[in-house]
Amino acid sequence: MSAGGTQLSASGPRHIAIIMDGNGRWAARRGLPPSAGHKAGVERIRDLLSACRDRGVEALTLFAFSSENWQRPPKEVELLMSLFHSYLRKEARRMREEGVRLRVVGRRDRFSPRLQRAIAEAEDITRGGEHGDLVIAADYGGQWDIAQAARLLAEEVAAGKRSPESIDEQALGEYVQLADLPPVDLLIRSSGEQRISNFILWQAAYSEFYFTDTLWPDFDEAALDAAIAAYRDRDRRFGGRSGDGIAAQA
Ligand code: IPE
Ligand code: IPE
Ligand code: MG
Repeated sequence: MSAGGTQLSASGPRHIAIIMDGNGRWAARRGLPPSAGHKAGVERIRDLLSACRDRGVEALTLFAFSSENWQRPPKEVELLMSLFHSYLRKEARRMREEGVRLRVVGRRDRFSPRLQRAIAEAEDITRGGEHGDLVIAADYGGQWDIAQAARLLAEEVAAGKRSPESIDEQALGEYVQLADLPPVDLLIRSSGEQRISNFILWQAAYSEFYFTDTLWPDFDEAALDAAIAAYRDRDRRFGGRSGDGIAAQA
């Protein structure tokens, strides 16, 4: 999303991931059913994507549906699936025009064949995008992600293509989702909950976490700017010492 960025900053973040939470409460406060909150929540994504582009963010990963969200009432799951389908049908062409490459991460086999086709088509038509990545995590779980990476490595061992000794953090890190994107610098969760709910576990090892009480359908450009400002204020040490000379004195 860096091309055309007006406020491109060397200090990043390059990759933002968001747990889009609070649709149900947003609707309940208005005396509306959860479906109204989900509809309002989807409407936020278009603006947010372009706001990220304007701010030089290269990759945006959105948690849209967790592997645990199948436990919701069937009617709600059905609505979420249909919103996902219509979002892909509506937005993929626009993304292609803007040079945004879309991908969906998560299990796909539990989606209807129709939704699986829409995902594949949206990924196909945006494949050449060179101005940023939008990742939608759907039927995604961080534990699933690590398990599928382990399975791929195990298959290579079984096929004699690698040794068990070759399996280390780097090897596993190449098989989890998002491995080809910049590391997730900033992980935002809306709605006030302070937990990860089985979102990216491996990839968030050194992400900065930002929690806001704002409910997802209210998460606007100002909310994004507040999150980015908080991120830029953080001292990212990655286990080392900050560059203030204290390390040199030790
Ligand atoms: C997030 O909103 C959307 C999904 C989990 C699909 P919620 O529906 O979880 O909203 P709350 O947490 O009930 O307010
Ligand atoms: C996490 O939100 C999943 C998404 C936002 C897609 P949930 O609302 O499902 O999480 P919990 O149940 O509060 O942990
Ligand atoms: Mg929730």
